[in-house]
Amino acid sequence: MNIRSIALLAVFAAAASVLAPSAVHAQANPAPAHPELRPVLDEFGGVDGLTVLMDEFMARLLDDARTREFFEFSDQTRVKQQLVEQFCVILGGDCVYSGRSMAESHQGLDIRRGEFNALVEILQEAMDSRGVPFAAQNKLLAKLAPMHREVVTK
Ligand code: HEM
Repeated sequence: MNIRSIALLAVFAAAASVLAPSAVHAQANPAPAHPELRPVLDEFGGVDGLTVLMDEFMARLLDDARTREFFEFSDQTRVKQQLVEQFCVILGGDCVYSGRSMAESHQGLDIRRGEFNALVEILQEAMDSRGVPFAAQNKLLAKLAPMHREVVTK
């Protein structure tokens, strides 16, 4: 082995040590769907913050006469978990939404526009109570607003 091939080997070894960890990292953490929104997820306290927020949200939905009847006999644990996944994706996190489509999950529930608006209002109150900054709240609400097309059927 001459001096030139030793030098080349050294270059490859250095390159491998630089490239290898990032290759592993890229596999473990695929690129988020909306990386530009990532700081918004942080303002919700990440997935842990969303989990606490959904507990608060569900408690308020069950406490409100406008929404209680829809959720009291639902699988609340599942709905909260699906909401955490869905909101995490919307906010640019490294999550996968494993639930059903909005049309499928709400078909047959006969949800009116007023009930949709009530749910959005209750979500705002839950976010206020958890101290989510106003601008971050609005970014989430802007993504949820068009969903009335799939959710409202009456
Ligand atoms: C933007 C608004 C809304 C979003 C993002 C949303 C999101 C979701 C998600 C992710 C699920 C779980 C899906 C699954 O289990 O695979 C779900 C289920 C459910 N949602 Fe909504 N939802 C919205 C509006 C509403 C409204 C307005 C009501 C009623 C007032 C409602 C009542 C329910 C009920 C009762 C379930 C459980 C259905 C079942 O277990 O079959 N949702 N929703």
